[in-house]
Amino acid sequence: MSVEAVTHAVNVRLGDDERSVVVLDQTLLPNETKYLTLTTAESMWEAIFSLRVRGAPCIGIFAAYAMAVLAKATPEPDFDGFYREYSRLSEYLNSSRPTAVNLGCMLKRMDGVVLAHRNEPREALLAALIAEAKAIHEEDMAMCRKISEYGLSLLKDGDNVITHCNAGPLATSRYGTAQGPFYLAKEKGMHIHVWVDETRPLLQGARLTSYELTKAGVDCTLICDNMANIVMKQGKVQAVFFGCDRIARNGDVANKIGSSGLAVLAHYYGIPVYSLGPSTTIDFDCPDGDHIPIEERNPEEIKTLHYAKSMALPEVQCYNPAFDVTDHTLLAGIVTERGIVRPPFAENFAKLFPEAMNK
Ligand code: MRU
Repeated sequence: MSVEAVTHAVNVRLGDDERSVVVLDQTLLPNETKYLTLTTAESMWEAIFSLRVRGAPCIGIFAAYAMAVLAKATPEPDFDGFYREYSRLSEYLNSSRPTAVNLGCMLKRMDGVVLAHRNEPREALLAALIAEAKAIHEEDMAMCRKISEYGLSLLKDGDNVITHCNAGPLATSRYGTAQGPFYLAKEKGMHIHVWVDETRPLLQGARLTSYELTKAGVDCTLICDNMANIVMKQGKVQAVFFGCDRIARNGDVANKIGSSGLAVLAHYYGIPVYSLGPSTTIDFDCPDGDHIPIEERNPEEIKTLHYAKSMALPEVQCYNPAFDVTDHTLLAGIVTERGIVRPPFAENFAKLFPEAMNK
């Protein structure tokens, strides 16, 4: 497979009839490539909840297409009745996962389109929703490309980078964020070696990141999460790149569980840590990491999922937070499509995103 086959692979798209959303079922990778055609709100909610579609930007794009499709299937002729049902469905989708801000943010953006077209014929409103969903998707492609370029500017030929979870094309659209620089490096003939944390318990690193990088011919080595320390101690890591699900105004970053531990380790060894993500992942209304809701998932993901037999007694208690927050003091920078934001983050966010920070 070429780099482009990986970076341009389709993970989410509007169905040809514009009455469904087609998604690649990421839970089946790397063993099976299967697309699902989703038409109902329940199946769409389940796809997000079960991580069939996953990764903060990808969830936002999916939700936008989903609302365009669900609006089309909402028959109420009068606007008030239509909007009541539309809002109910939007809130329902928003309840599927709490941490990634892109879901709520894109639902809000679609809501704005509905209200802006309230006095127009229904056909025009529905067409505007589809156009907005496509615009959200295309904007993400452009943002990922820019983020990848800025991210690559932090690296030099021969560097080793450690990454966590999956923030590649599967989690976004094209290139990805935290993994985008690796594809770009490959395209430019630069050699970067990537340490891929397996990312317990859902194994996004093993199942998705090492899959995508290997298919694209990027040099990578899979390790268990608890091996990050040894490769850092051995001097085999020059930078940490991970994605983000929600960034607070002060630069605290929520990302896949294990990210903050990696950042603490890197801090000890003096290795720079970068979070890479689109500005759509910055929650300018959120003051700090303590205000980010953390998703807690089913303990069976720890005990039984991905194992042939249970790896703990059924009665064993488990705590399964899906995300953690990396304190902004541990970050060397946050890489966005507008540039690399360095500490102090609140001050520098205000310079790069004045319209959002000063609203
Ligand atoms: O639970 P997931 O797999 O949706 O978590 C994904 C992550 O934590 C990613 O790092 C993040 O969403 C960034 S994706 C560009």
